[in-house]
Amino acid sequence: MAFFSLALALGALVVPARSGVTYPDCANGPLKSNVVCDTSAAPAARAAALVAAMNNNEKLANLINNSPGVSRLGLSAYQWWNEALHGVAHNRGITWGGEFSAATQFPQAITTSATFDDTLIEKIGTIISTEARAFANKGRAHLDFWTPNVNPFRDPRWGRGHETPGEDAFKNKKWAEAFVKGMQGPGPTHRVVATCKHYAAYDLENSGSTTRFNFDAKVSIQDLAEYYLPPFEQCARDSKVGSIMCSYNAVNGVPACANSYLMDTILRKHWNWTDQNQYIVSDCDAVYYLGNANGGHRYKSSYAAAIGASLEAGCDNMCWATGGTTPDPASAFNSRQFSQDTLDKAMLRQMQGLVHAGYFDGPGSLYRNLSRADVDTENARETALKAAEEGIVLLKNDGILPLSLNSSGFQVAMIGFWANAADKMLGGYSGSPPFNHDPVTAARSMGITVNYVNGPLTQPNADTSAAVNAAQRSNVVIFFGGIDNTVEKESQDRTSIAWPTGQLTMIQRLAETGKPVIVVRMGTHVDDTPLLNLPNVKAILWAGYPGQDGGTAVMNIITGRANPAGRLPVTVYPSSYTNQAPFTNMALRPSSSYPGRTYRWYQNAVFPFGHGLHYTNFSVSVQDFPDTFAISDLLSSCGDSVAYLDLCPFPSVSINVTNIGGRASDYVALGFLSGEYGPTPRPIKTLATYTRIFDVQPEQTQVAELNWKLESLARVDKQGNKVLYPGTYTLLLDQPTLANVTFTLTGEEAVLDNWPQP
Ligand SMILES: *[C@@H]1O[C@H](CO)[C@@H](O)[C@H](O)[C@H]1NC(C)=O
Ligand SMILES: *[C@@H]1O[C@H](CO)[C@@H](O)[C@H](O)[C@H]1NC(C)=O
Ligand SMILES: *[C@@H]1O[C@H](CO)[C@@H](O)[C@H](O)[C@H]1NC(C)=O
Ligand SMILES: *[C@@H]1O[C@H](CO)[C@@H](O)[C@H](O)[C@H]1NC(C)=O
Ligand SMILES: *[C@@H]1O[C@H](CO)[C@@H](O)[C@H](O)[C@H]1NC(C)=O
Ligand SMILES: *[C@@H]1O[C@H](CO)[C@@H](O)[C@H](O)[C@H]1NC(C)=O
Repeated sequence: MAFFSLALALGALVVPARSGVTYPDCANGPLKSNVVCDTSAAPAARAAALVAAMNNNEKLANLINNSPGVSRLGLSAYQWWNEALHGVAHNRGITWGGEFSAATQFPQAITTSATFDDTLIEKIGTIISTEARAFANKGRAHLDFWTPNVNPFRDPRWGRGHETPGEDAFKNKKWAEAFVKGMQGPGPTHRVVATCKHYAAYDLENSGSTTRFNFDAKVSIQDLAEYYLPPFEQCARDSKVGSIMCSYNAVNGVPACANSYLMDTILRKHWNWTDQNQYIVSDCDAVYYLGNANGGHRYKSSYAAAIGASLEAGCDNMCWATGGTTPDPASAFNSRQFSQDTLDKAMLRQMQGLVHAGYFDGPGSLYRNLSRADVDTENARETALKAAEEGIVLLKNDGILPLSLNSSGFQVAMIGFWANAADKMLGGYSGSPPFNHDPVTAARSMGITVNYVNGPLTQPNADTSAAVNAAQRSNVVIFFGGIDNTVEKESQDRTSIAWPTGQLTMIQRLAETGKPVIVVRMGTHVDDTPLLNLPNVKAILWAGYPGQDGGTAVMNIITGRANPAGRLPVTVYPSSYTNQAPFTNMALRPSSSYPGRTYRWYQNAVFPFGHGLHYTNFSVSVQDFPDTFAISDLLSSCGDSVAYLDLCPFPSVSINVTNIGGRASDYVALGFLSGEYGPTPRPIKTLATYTRIFDVQPEQTQVAELNWKLESLARVDKQGNKVLYPGTYTLLLDQPTLANVTFTLTGEEAVLDNWPQP
């Protein structure tokens, strides 16, 4: 209660920033002769000229997310906090309404990741940023968007796992590459500025008395370099993302937003994330919680000292929400908690970000003409539907799918809490979609006779009679269940990953009718073992959070209008896993009392990472591939073609993929490495390359190229170095393996990336 009234009191004091972007007037305003408005000058010089025109009070006032601007200079208020995780979202920087009452809402990242289609991910990023920029151009949003969330989904209990591309570091890296490229656009001027979050090792909301605000993640340097940081390396070093968000948690004793090892040694120096002077923003209230706030890290004895520690360590903009008190950078500065140089640098990085977003480039400049006509286009709608269809994973099918519905009098019982709940399909960080097509509505619009009955989400003893009655009247039952984002969500982890008992009871009663049951599961992890033990559960699909057209996508897959080819981007663990792996244990590798994490190390999956069936079968064969490579040749042939050795290309592998069944289908070609190379213990296997191929007709063979780089062959040693080891490598195709090819690397091991020690 005390907390609540504090929040209310603060809310009353907050002077809201303007509702959207007001671009500076470079033609007539006070900035007209400032170099910042000179589009022919270098971005760094433009930002520096603007910062030079600001006095200290003006700089100090603008170190927070709802920056007041500098009216003397014609700089309007600017809200840095805008969200667009899977579409322009509802949050403080964005004003919805009028002709901007809707924006395309794609599936959550966990579902789009299951497509294994990076061209599609880039397209989604392009559409989201185009719509976001159109909102901004009409004064309804700003140019900085705090998306994507690329933390690897380490533990199945995590409430925010569905915001991420899944559990694999390499997969998240590739997803981040495609998404950031789409968001920022191809050139030096960004369509919008993307923000990779949360840096780093953030994947816990609350576990007992441990919360995200006080958790000290103990991470070995090996796991840090190999697992927790690669998506950020991709964002910063290789994709030149405009911004990074530091996280609430501490890493090895130092809160992430005051962690100079993470923010300076690794991010800015080792990854050379300096050439555009990108900015780091704190997660909201993270700076508050690294001070002496209740429930926080108590890393510093005052809020002023916390502000100083964070800015000195490399954070440039402090986001605050109503949970903490307003940062007061001016008094922290006056009590010498941070230096003039630090203040100037933070301001320079922020302003250079705005320069790169074309903020000072005038009305005729790139992306300034994006408008309402570019929002919710036909192309966007088609892409949202396609993304959901491509991301749906067929977990089990004994032949009932695709459903044949053409017999007269055919009736379908559609049971469960999300069968007709349109709002369930979007998940967290959503905006308003132009429409929300739930499964029941989609089925009816296909002319299917539907007997719909709601079902429980978490109630343990729900009445099953209406559902059983509907099943008895129908030819087939489709149960829509699992969990939603009231069960898994920001600031709320789970303690159990079992199917909710009330739902399980209902599925059992439905199966007892003798009618075939199809289960469509949404949300992320639950243990499907009890369903696999029910013979009348004939098929299981996983849809995650399929977005605005998710109901249509699900029904298109069920009826065979679209064919399933998605693959799990996570391991489905047995429910006992949560007793074996303490949530707070960050280690990846197993030990005698610890099962390890992810498909790389964990053995007893219910469904493994990469699992996904089709309505047909495929055979795969590998075309001729050299059997030996000398490490020295690989490095010398790469020469100066890339800035970092791990980005050296490795010869691609050509595979023939033949559809040996009766239906056309997409196919995701997965290549995992295993073998005798590098230090022990060795992972079971590691995703090394993948591609999605489209519409393989029955009896047709398509050739797919699996492209990869030395990064996929390297292992990370205990010091965090990426090393290319001699040894025997086996590329395993598909999950389970359909074909393989073995090759040998000879010569001396070579360090591809020398990791800085803390
Ligand atoms: C690092 O950034 C600097 C400054 O932009 C640039 O000149 C240099 O080439 C970069 N180094 C690498 C290895 O990319
Ligand atoms: C928008 O501006 C870009 C270049 O800035 C131009 O290529 C494009 O044709 C313009 N589109 C419209 C609809 O004016
Ligand atoms: C539906 O139509 C297909 C082909 O038109 C046919 O093979 C199948 O037997 C029909 N199914 C039913 C249940 O009538
Ligand atoms: C795929 O092959 C398996 C094993 O031969 C077989 O049981 C299954 O029916 C086939 N599935 C399809 C869709 O053809
Ligand atoms: C792959 O297909 C090509 C023709 O598309 C054929 O020439 C080649 O022999 C096939 N290779 C394998 C390994 O199946
Ligand atoms: C690789 O394929 C061969 C047959 O081509 C098989 O004998 C061998 O067991 C496979 N190896 C692995 C690791 O799957």
